[in-house]
Amino acid sequence: MKVKVSAPGKLMIMGEHAVVYNHPCLVTAVDKRLYVEAEILTQLKDEIITPQVKESRFVLEAIAYFKQRYNIKKHVKIATNGDFSHQVGLGSSSAVTVATFKALSLLFNLDLSEKEIFDMSYHVNLLIQGVGSGFDIAAATYGQTIYFLTGGKTIDILPVKELPLVVGYSGIKADTPYYIRKVAEDFKNKEREMKKIFSTIHQLVDRAKETFLADNLEEAGTLMTENHKLLQQLGVSTIRLDAMVLASIKAGAWGAKLSGAGGGDCMIALVSKEKRKDVEKAIIDVGGEIINIQVNADGVRVEK
Ligand code: PMV
Repeated sequence: MKVKVSAPGKLMIMGEHAVVYNHPCLVTAVDKRLYVEAEILTQLKDEIITPQVKESRFVLEAIAYFKQRYNIKKHVKIATNGDFSHQVGLGSSSAVTVATFKALSLLFNLDLSEKEIFDMSYHVNLLIQGVGSGFDIAAATYGQTIYFLTGGKTIDILPVKELPLVVGYSGIKADTPYYIRKVAEDFKNKEREMKKIFSTIHQLVDRAKETFLADNLEEAGTLMTENHKLLQQLGVSTIRLDAMVLASIKAGAWGAKLSGAGGGDCMIALVSKEKRKDVEKAIIDVGGEIINIQVNADGVRVEK
């Protein structure tokens, strides 16, 4: 038997960094997917085919953990394929981990819930990276747009009607663990100041959740821009990201911010249909690259 599954990448909408410190964030799943094909082998060892070395570590650990947990002795072949490269920071590692667990559960007839897949994937993620809130794993597992609390303590799927985003890539691959550790270092030295920033971000995320649900995008945009200013204060933005955010707002976006750990990767701008082209052009003019992405995508699923 052969199975094929896929899991989506993600975009952080609001709440990055604060979500590592027990505050909520908003994340959406994107239509760039990671595919996993799996089968049981008769040979004596597992076979793993991943185009990117980074992904193979996640596949290897996922297989090892799954086999140990369910006392499985058989060997498997796992081959991955992706719509997106891990360069742009859309979460290929979390997608590959979630897709691997889903594929293995199908191969061995285990009816795992989404929460079980989330928990196992988060375990593997922490094993390899040591840090992280798990927001990306929630997006890969459940899809849609999610209000997420650290470690999956809350995973609320939000019936958000519209999330018209322009996504601009800064041209630089961000080193997420580096930035998480940098913020942690600062936290030791400036705990009071940092706690204040995080709780303000928390309030913005809670307000944004309501405004997105009410389809009040203009207000949601303002909250996103406020969030960006706090990320600047955390010291995780870059000159390029700031320029792309500013250019978007000048070109008529409702709001804009960096998305993710900072230091590179992508920024997002919330835009009306009328302003989309202007905002895209403004981002390109300051050196960004537009990535065409649909949000609110399906979570992990079986492919034909
Ligand atoms: O760089 P990204 O897109 O993986 O986002 C990281 C977001 C953080 O809040 C900084 C870390 C985390 O795991 O939540």
